[in-house]
Amino acid sequence: MKLKSLLFALSAAALISGSAFAQTPIIIKFSHVVATDTPKGKGAERFKELAEKATNGRVKVELYPNSQLYKDKEELEALQLGAVQMLAPSLAKFGPLGVKEFEAFDLPYIFPDKAVLYRITEGPVGKELFKKLESKGISGLAYWDNGFKQMTANKPLHVPADFKGLKMRIQSSKVLDAQMRALGANPQVMAFSEVYQALQTGVVNGTENTNSNIFTQKTHEVQSHLTVSDHGYIGYAVIVNKKFWDGLPADIRTQLEGAMKDATRYTNAIAQQENDAALDGIKKAGKTTVYALTPTEKAEWRKALLPVRKEMESRIGTEMLKAVDKETAALGYK
Ligand code: LMR
Repeated sequence: MKLKSLLFALSAAALISGSAFAQTPIIIKFSHVVATDTPKGKGAERFKELAEKATNGRVKVELYPNSQLYKDKEELEALQLGAVQMLAPSLAKFGPLGVKEFEAFDLPYIFPDKAVLYRITEGPVGKELFKKLESKGISGLAYWDNGFKQMTANKPLHVPADFKGLKMRIQSSKVLDAQMRALGANPQVMAFSEVYQALQTGVVNGTENTNSNIFTQKTHEVQSHLTVSDHGYIGYAVIVNKKFWDGLPADIRTQLEGAMKDATRYTNAIAQQENDAALDGIKKAGKTTVYALTPTEKAEWRKALLPVRKEMESRIGTEMLKAVDKETAALGYK
């Protein structure tokens, strides 16, 4: 009798743990550095919702915004090690990984508009760039939009001469380094999460970013001037640990790809309005003078920044630059 009840208890325990095992969801840790209330933050939330629904709860997406898990450089290492499964770093952060072609996206005034940009990211060039990540143990899933960058400082920035001697925070891109030097500033690479404090304490004097990042990081509270210059672009590559992704059951991977497609469409649709609303927010906060470059000033910026492309050509690769030129010409731009 005793043996019988022991056997019963054992088989009941096995059943419970067996079913618990069958229901254990696959966890995707998705880490990123920006606030939830941004194009990327909202895109990540939408992906979570769609992915969990599409897989009927077999996948659980855990979001870690605001660098709460890892900072810029660490998060790429964590992805390669498998400590997180998904990231969406800005395209400016792939150089240190050895994939320098991504830095083409950082060239000043390279895209006359977003239509040209989308031809790159959604076309063969975008796919080719993702292929280059494979040898690093990374698979690229999608490109997400943010928007064009503005400059901030504690003084007006109207002409290139205004940048002279300013310490400007940049992302880890050699093109951005060359851009700031071309303007006469001293670039300083710094993790996104450290920018607010660095501006507040004067470790750096200014920075560049999209309005949504400026507003949600409260940069406008520690910068008295913002110049609407639209001189460069910030967008993202949504990437996964390749081994993790390839090891998923095929049906789950397909469902997740569908969720990513829809989340991408959503993110790219809201990006511009998020940035427009953020600029309104910055203006309403009343702590920053917002100034839009005149056409003459913009021409001066372009002139000062033109040599950056030539200087960076051998780093980025002429193939990449030619591809951008081709798409630019295809839309009727010179
Ligand atoms: C930055 O570091 O300024 C941006 O790349 C942050 C982001 O992810 O938008």
